[in-house]
Amino acid sequence: MTSRRIILVLPLVALLSSCTRFTSSHSMPIAKDIQSLSNPQQIVVRHLELDLAVLFEQKSLKGSAVLGIEHVDSQARELILDTRELQIDETETSTDGETFHEAKFQLGNPQKSLGTPLTIQIPGDAKFVRVKYSTSPSASGLQWLTPEQTMGKNAPFLFTQSEAIHARSWIPLQDSPGVRITYTAHITTPKDLLAVMGADHDAFAAPTGDYRFHMNERIPSYLVALAVGDIGFQAAGARTGVYAEKPLLAKAAKEFEDTEKMLREAEQLYGPYRWGRYDILVLPPSFPYGGMENPRLTFATPTVIAGDKSLVSLVAHEMAHSWSGNLVTNATWSDFWLNEGFTVYLERRIIEQVYGREREEMEAALGRQELEQELAGLAPGDQILHINLTGRDPDDGMTNVPYEKGALLLRAIEGQYGREKFDAFLKGYFEHFSFQSITTAQFLDYIRHNLPDIDSKIPINQWIFKPGLPAGAPKPVSDLFAKVEQGAASGNPDTTHWSTQEWLHFLRGLKSPKMGELDEAYHLTQSGNDEILQQWLLMSVRNRYEAAYPKLEEFLVSVGRRKYLKPLYEELVKTPEGKERARGIYEKARAGYHPIAQTTIDGIVGK
Ligand code: BES
Ligand code: ZN
Repeated sequence: MTSRRIILVLPLVALLSSCTRFTSSHSMPIAKDIQSLSNPQQIVVRHLELDLAVLFEQKSLKGSAVLGIEHVDSQARELILDTRELQIDETETSTDGETFHEAKFQLGNPQKSLGTPLTIQIPGDAKFVRVKYSTSPSASGLQWLTPEQTMGKNAPFLFTQSEAIHARSWIPLQDSPGVRITYTAHITTPKDLLAVMGADHDAFAAPTGDYRFHMNERIPSYLVALAVGDIGFQAAGARTGVYAEKPLLAKAAKEFEDTEKMLREAEQLYGPYRWGRYDILVLPPSFPYGGMENPRLTFATPTVIAGDKSLVSLVAHEMAHSWSGNLVTNATWSDFWLNEGFTVYLERRIIEQVYGREREEMEAALGRQELEQELAGLAPGDQILHINLTGRDPDDGMTNVPYEKGALLLRAIEGQYGREKFDAFLKGYFEHFSFQSITTAQFLDYIRHNLPDIDSKIPINQWIFKPGLPAGAPKPVSDLFAKVEQGAASGNPDTTHWSTQEWLHFLRGLKSPKMGELDEAYHLTQSGNDEILQQWLLMSVRNRYEAAYPKLEEFLVSVGRRKYLKPLYEELVKTPEGKERARGIYEKARAGYHPIAQTTIDGIVGK
């Protein structure tokens, strides 16, 4: 009862408060973004009204987007939007949002990874633009699953993945993180399916096939998200809950039962949670990422459900983005480390609060190891936090560098100033830049203003603009890992109480593993923990451990998480037989992968 009343009142309050922010942000210039073909420096989109039908048979979203626009340059008469593989049926403009008149439009030439610019003629007094369109079955930001590809097997499933630059494949908009919009959406679906978005909606509503959503906070386009399927909901805490395919719901809710506690700890550290609810949607296994921080509704891979909460740092991570990323956003993809480096740092602080220092130390130590390993094989340019992405797809810049090197920088600053002072700094930073998109230069100005002696304590320019790790970069250590190493050296470790993290450290530390013996002793090929299993399968390929090959194939065909697939395929193609095997497996697996994962694996195996 009360929840319904709150839902009615909240949008009004939120709308009023977002209006004040709206006016105060007018003067903020929008950063030039080489990953967008749009022109927010002339005419900027401030609001979006989506009206889409979800057509499973055609694998298409069809309907319209009304864009609320504002002239930055009063002389400008063209609005340029990003699109990719969209079919544009008609464009119109309006001064009042009620009466629309046809407007001329032109689609430019498609550009590799950037899509196709859509240029619309705009009269000087127009305040709204309507685009009638439909999406392509191969839209890079959509995955259409058949019933057989779901867990429940009885209904199709659709989900979006807009980050980094895939929103343009399902909505014509200015697809740059420097452009922030509010939005509403009206989504129609087959009657018995549930639609959810990373936006305000009634969590307890029954499926009707007709859904309305509001996002009254200004967000970048990469955070617009939609999923449709035979999805159920289970509350976890007062503000938190889990959506999942129904067969997985109870297990997922149990795995994520600490979410409310995490949220309270995060608020304690970094100030109030500004987004209302925090729910998690568990997707089918083809979801190409571990998690995606869609506002109010994190999208997550089912591979984190290990049964023992050992992989829930992913929830801490996506939740942390509610501050670092969603509240304060990278203005361009070169500033991506501001999102991910801050978030990994916050994630570890939350993990420490909820699961203790030892768990945090293990995860931080694993993070540094992974970073060092990756740095060894990266071109110098890719070792830089403020990365140059000219001519590249931003999805390719996704290495451990923005994540773990970024987090180490914050750990280094914390080490110099102490927690109390650095926590206050971060809280102030999130408040100061809330609902804004900022560049690395703006971050540097801010930190130099608020921690004036920073350059004498930390080589911050070297950290951000130079490859590698500065001497004196923090080296997280873990006593538990030291014990694992002792056990491994003795040849007879006591594994009875090992956590996932200890298993990973153990396996990664083995120089010439006796695969058969290890498997006999620990049943690793049968591991129900996907993180451990992936590590084991990687070693199996490396050491030609054939007994694990059937499992390898099963894993590669059933799981679509790119972070797991990429190293396995890369390891396979190192030998001629492996390459053959990779080709055979990929032939079976490819259709089940998300377009984003397909692009990555095509590049490794060849189509
Ligand atoms: N925002 C990212 C996912 C992302 C990044 C999608 C770039 C597209 C482009 C998300 O927060 C993330 O970092 N996910 C990680 C998990 C995390 C625990 C490090 C992942 O998916 O592996
Ligand atoms: Zn992240």
